[in-house]
Amino acid sequence: MKIIITRDREELSAKAAKVMLDVVKSDPYAVLGLATGTTPLGLYAHMIADREKNGTGYAHIRTVNLDEYIGLPASHAQSYAFFMQKHLFDGLGIDRENTYIENGAAADEEKECARYNALLEQLPRSIQLLGLGSNGHIAFNEPGTPFGSDTHVVTLAESTLRDNARLFLHPDEVPRRAYTMGIRQIMHAKKILVLASGANKADAVYKMAMGDVTELVPASVLQLHPDCVLIADREAAERL
Ligand code: GLP
Repeated sequence: MKIIITRDREELSAKAAKVMLDVVKSDPYAVLGLATGTTPLGLYAHMIADREKNGTGYAHIRTVNLDEYIGLPASHAQSYAFFMQKHLFDGLGIDRENTYIENGAAADEEKECARYNALLEQLPRSIQLLGLGSNGHIAFNEPGTPFGSDTHVVTLAESTLRDNARLFLHPDEVPRRAYTMGIRQIMHAKKILVLASGANKADAVYKMAMGDVTELVPASVLQLHPDCVLIADREAAERL
């Protein structure tokens, strides 16, 4: 794992944008694996600013997202589909047809997982962006998830519900279940970019980068990826 430590979140976002834009500019047909959460927001703002300044084209770029809450339709303001539209896709002018995410309102959960698994087979990711849960999760793969997993339904860990409650009006509104891309599929991406910011990620960053490779720390699997870049700000990297 290549590790880059930055002064602060702004420098993290600028460096992450450089990695992502290198992929976009070298391959106009790239498939971008994208993530939600607050950490990638600066990166997304940089991508939009780059397009405004340099006219970078996204007509043939396709995007695949990691995860989605079960029970929230794409029109719900707290759904990850809505988040992506608002914070990235509108700004890049990406056609909705070229963006893929699990359907949180699907009637049949098993069929929805199968649909997404088939789709991922057809869309090998040029790069996969990841945030990091404070408990070491990647996407919504909570501790204990098999490294060989594909898209599946998860019951979110209590710590994840607590971490994500800040984005909802009331903690009881946080959906308790979600779809997530599996760890095997995350590892399939040609390149992986992990971002971690803030002191509450320091323990997870340490275990991910320096700890044992174990299913108890899902992110530790990234040590096995041949081209994984971690960008962490000083606070998140304080235990390295
Ligand atoms: C959620 C998402 C993860 C994300 C994590 C970290 O749990 N499912 O994909 O990495 O939040 O979020 P933040 O960047 O806000 O700390």
